[in-house]
Amino acid sequence: MTTSRSDAPSPYSDDLTDVSAVAYGFDPDAYGLPSERELAAFAAGYFPEFYPERSAKTGDVYRPTVVPSDSSDAGRVAPRETDVEPGRSLPSIGGTPLEKIRSDFPALSLQVNGKPLVWLDNAATTQRPQQVIDRISHYYSNENSNVHRGAHTLAARSTDAFEGARSKVAKFIGAPGDKNIVFVRGATEGLNLVANAYVKPLLQSGDEIILTQLEHHANIVPWQMIAEETGAVLRVAPVDEDGQIILSEYARLFNKRTRFVSITHVSNAIGTIAPVQEMISIAHGFGVRVCVDGAQSISHMPVNVYALDADFFVFSGHKIFGPNGIGALYGKEDVLESARPWQGGGNMIADVTFERTIYHRAPQKFEAGTGNIADAVGLGAAIDYVSAIGMENIALYERALLEYGISALGRIPGLTMVGRAADRASAISFVLDCQDNESVGRYLNDAGIAVRTGHHCAQPILRRLGYEGTVRPSIAFYNTYDEIDLLARKVSELAR
Ligand code: ALA
Repeated sequence: MTTSRSDAPSPYSDDLTDVSAVAYGFDPDAYGLPSERELAAFAAGYFPEFYPERSAKTGDVYRPTVVPSDSSDAGRVAPRETDVEPGRSLPSIGGTPLEKIRSDFPALSLQVNGKPLVWLDNAATTQRPQQVIDRISHYYSNENSNVHRGAHTLAARSTDAFEGARSKVAKFIGAPGDKNIVFVRGATEGLNLVANAYVKPLLQSGDEIILTQLEHHANIVPWQMIAEETGAVLRVAPVDEDGQIILSEYARLFNKRTRFVSITHVSNAIGTIAPVQEMISIAHGFGVRVCVDGAQSISHMPVNVYALDADFFVFSGHKIFGPNGIGALYGKEDVLESARPWQGGGNMIADVTFERTIYHRAPQKFEAGTGNIADAVGLGAAIDYVSAIGMENIALYERALLEYGISALGRIPGLTMVGRAADRASAISFVLDCQDNESVGRYLNDAGIAVRTGHHCAQPILRRLGYEGTVRPSIAFYNTYDEIDLLARKVSELAR
């Protein structure tokens, strides 16, 4: 953690002492991360030498040198030395062989520039398994109809599929019920909806909204737009040199004018996992509601909005192996009910006359017009897919892979890591002394490796750390140690 009890600002020190205690007690569940027991069970399968009593069955799998986690760092990612040799057989994740997982994703078999595709641009978008592609195709072939309106068989099938997908989303993120889930185009639309439908009506000139330096532009611009319209002011919680939120500084931003907080769960640009549970707890201590942008956390760790006590949570389907153009907004029942409608049209109304309209309750109140039914169903299939493997298993595998990547890239002379927070997921941002970012991207592309270069739609955090852009490989659970080795080798060639 970057804060200590003594960092707590004086005006609200009572509240913050409690919050710091939460932070120091570090409960991995609070982050939606695996518990120590789950971590040990998983590790026993991979690293039997550390867990002789648990390793009844072991496979021919990677054997990196790891330090078994203790409760103070469970669920965190920190650079550690590894001795993994490349070219080993692929491990299993939650009992599913990685080879099988990879064969489910047609794009992972593509050749690019005469080389096997190495997809390390997962923070931008993920590849889709055949199961998701087939589910969408099945929908259009067998179930296609508008929902809720027709007294016929296909309308019932379509409605079942659509509402079934809503239930899957709710269950996946620990929402109390289906009515807490609004289908939107993606995280960006979800954030715009929260800003316009819930927060804007609360604002008067001089009121304040708290963001952090880690935000993606999608969690900055909508707030600037409503601030401009209302005279509200944005306050920004700073990060330290490693790119982690300074909790004490965040807490210091609250005052009587604070109306809302909107924060990212994981930084798309530098991978920082923000301490969102503590941040929510602090905000609630001041009676302020919080929206969490989960675009970059949803595919990398278990998320439980109920445990986090988030008031809103948004994510995009395409970041979690689902379709483009679909995403979900979670809201607590009371905030969704008190938010005003977002767009007007069919589907969201209970009764219309020329004099007045009576709206449905949430979530229909926010779903005007014919929605993206097929892609919502596809998102349900993506959730089924990752759920079958287990988000805890995915988080554990990715954690080890990320550590390996950080270590491998960190050894390259002339490479500077941008963002070094102890808690990270997926993204490794870096620059090379002797090459511009675009040249690195092109060189890697020639080798079949897809990474993103540039500002990653998160200019404020890169500028805070002194850069206008970086090279950003970002992993998902279908990536392998061999792919990381290839990345490191190719980057080393350029760094010479
Ligand atoms: N937000 C996406 C990224 O980080 C597009 O690349």
